[in-house]
Amino acid sequence: MCKPQKSGILVLEKQNLMNKTKILVTGGLGFIGSHTVVELIQSGLEPIIVDDLSNSELFILDRIEQITGSRPKFYPYDVCDSDKLKTVFSENKNIKACIHFAAKKAVGESMKIPLVYYRTNLVSLLNVLETMKEFNADCFVFSSSATVYGQPEHLPANESSPLQKATSSYGSTKQMAEDILEKVSATGSLKTLSLRYFNPVGAHQSALIGELPKGIPNNLMPFVTQTAIGIREKLTVFGNDYNTPDGTCIRDYIHVVDLAKAHVNACNYLLTHADSISYDVFNIGTGKGISVLEIVSAFEEVNKVKVPYIIGSRRDGDVESIYASCSKANQILKWEAQYTLEDMVKDAWNWEKAYRKHTK
Ligand code: UFG
Repeated sequence: MCKPQKSGILVLEKQNLMNKTKILVTGGLGFIGSHTVVELIQSGLEPIIVDDLSNSELFILDRIEQITGSRPKFYPYDVCDSDKLKTVFSENKNIKACIHFAAKKAVGESMKIPLVYYRTNLVSLLNVLETMKEFNADCFVFSSSATVYGQPEHLPANESSPLQKATSSYGSTKQMAEDILEKVSATGSLKTLSLRYFNPVGAHQSALIGELPKGIPNNLMPFVTQTAIGIREKLTVFGNDYNTPDGTCIRDYIHVVDLAKAHVNACNYLLTHADSISYDVFNIGTGKGISVLEIVSAFEEVNKVKVPYIIGSRRDGDVESIYASCSKANQILKWEAQYTLEDMVKDAWNWEKAYRKHTK
């Protein structure tokens, strides 16, 4: 017999709510983490955030709720604390998968305090893996980086391009982590997809969440937006004597929302192909190489704002040119970057303006 439609809908809604697949997101209030949490919620998954707020802000949780209409569970814990991590798993039965963002990520800083980088990035990874094993969660998406390639001999870099010795302690932690994950996954107790990000930029189109670097930004795009808004006097372009068309370094910039969606596809792929996966890696970029000066002129042109800059010397550890072949992610994860360079510079600028207005 048919139930009255209204209560039928309610029952279904309740069931959906109860059956949502739980995904642990470490570092879920950070730049890539927060955008990924939004996409997970919007695709019907249930993210549970663990973030110690060491490089993120609590108000991002409100903004996630504002965008999605749903407030994810949040634990202000450091994942290096394994007892706390166990509490999260005990309180949330049946966590199926983990997306592990929580890590230190500044290349330059990693050369000054390598031990902090090795401890934080490796201990957090081991804790998460051990706790997942204890609680029978076996799907893992890892935040890896294009930095593992160093300067590839052939471009675009694909997943079989040989990895060069890492030039920074940060890069070295990513290479070590990939190695650990491959070996642990080979035992059959874990299924892992390692996503090698190229250069994430931009912000959510709502301008409610975006990149929030603490102190002077290390990365290009936040330096550009802070210069355009007048917080920084001028941008220094690190070298114009590279062997590239305009002499400045080339990178593969990807909109953070595209990158976030890649995580949702990776999760869904793991959850639906659990029997056939052990360990795999995917490049996540656009496949297009863009120079530093091209970023600056696109930003100025699209946003109608000046970005004063000078040419400085090369930055230690920078590779000349790198961009991705993403055909593997296109084919297997059914994922492809959608946003253009124009979207990236526009959204980054809208976020910077909205954030400064809000914090004035
Ligand atoms: N750049 C400048 N001036 C600045 C900042 C950056 O000219 O003030 C240049 C850099 O020299 C480089 C380009 O802008 O040529 C991009 O630099 P970012 O610091 O934004 O990014 P990176 O390519 O050095 O590193 C980024 C992430 C890493 C990640 C790597 C993967 O920060 O975490 O991409 O390729 F590992």
